[in-house]
Amino acid sequence: MSVLVFEDQATASRAAASHIQSTIRIAVANRHRAVLGLATGATPRRVYAHLVELHRAGQLSFREVITYNLDEYYPIQPLDPRSYRAYMHDLLFSHVNIPPHQAHVLDGTVPEKFADQHCAQFDRWIAEDGGLDLQLLGIGRNGHIGFNEPGDLPLAEALALPTRFVELDTITRRDAARDFGGEDRVISGALTLGIASILAARSILILATGARKAEAVARALGGPMTYRLPASLLQSAASRVIWMLDLPAAAGLP
Ligand code: F6R
Repeated sequence: MSVLVFEDQATASRAAASHIQSTIRIAVANRHRAVLGLATGATPRRVYAHLVELHRAGQLSFREVITYNLDEYYPIQPLDPRSYRAYMHDLLFSHVNIPPHQAHVLDGTVPEKFADQHCAQFDRWIAEDGGLDLQLLGIGRNGHIGFNEPGDLPLAEALALPTRFVELDTITRRDAARDFGGEDRVISGALTLGIASILAARSILILATGARKAEAVARALGGPMTYRLPASLLQSAASRVIWMLDLPAAAGLP
């Protein structure tokens, strides 16, 4: 896997935005569309701010861009300010020229008995759009990617995980406590792109900043491939993965 280390979060975010900009340019030139998998959370906020700046400066159009978000809390209303649909609207979709029907976020309101069907449909839509040109990822302190939380699954089963409903891990809920006003108020479920869906992307950009991520980053890059640390499974797609880190997140690397 390629690993690029930047002095600070600001520089890493700028580099990530410019990588996304060139992915869009190349995909649109070759196939008249770019299909992006997008992440939420604290880490990519500045990346979206840069993409919006590039759009405002006339250097980036989203007209031919199709997006699929990695995950969404479940259940949640799209207008709930803590939903990832609201996050994407506030930070990106409402500031750029992406046609609304090209911006997909898993539906936190789908009735429970249809959740599996909805998730399977999300994977099909991505495939029908030609697959993801780029999947943007963050990493949880527990090593999760999307909301694929650590567990004991054998490797082959973990690598085959599709988009689905999941229960959130304790560390994930602890980290989301601030947004929800307390750990016990964090919505306990989510819909997430699966490991297989993520690994199917033609390229993967994983961004990690801050000392809190250093241990997970070091284990994902240097440890064994195991679903106990889901980000380590990116090793199975090594030639298509780029890590962008700031110095504190890279502190555990040799
Ligand atoms: C977000 C997502 C998560 C986050 C991860 C890191 O869509 O899928 O895997 O990328 O939890 O979150 P932050 O950036 O808030 O530290």
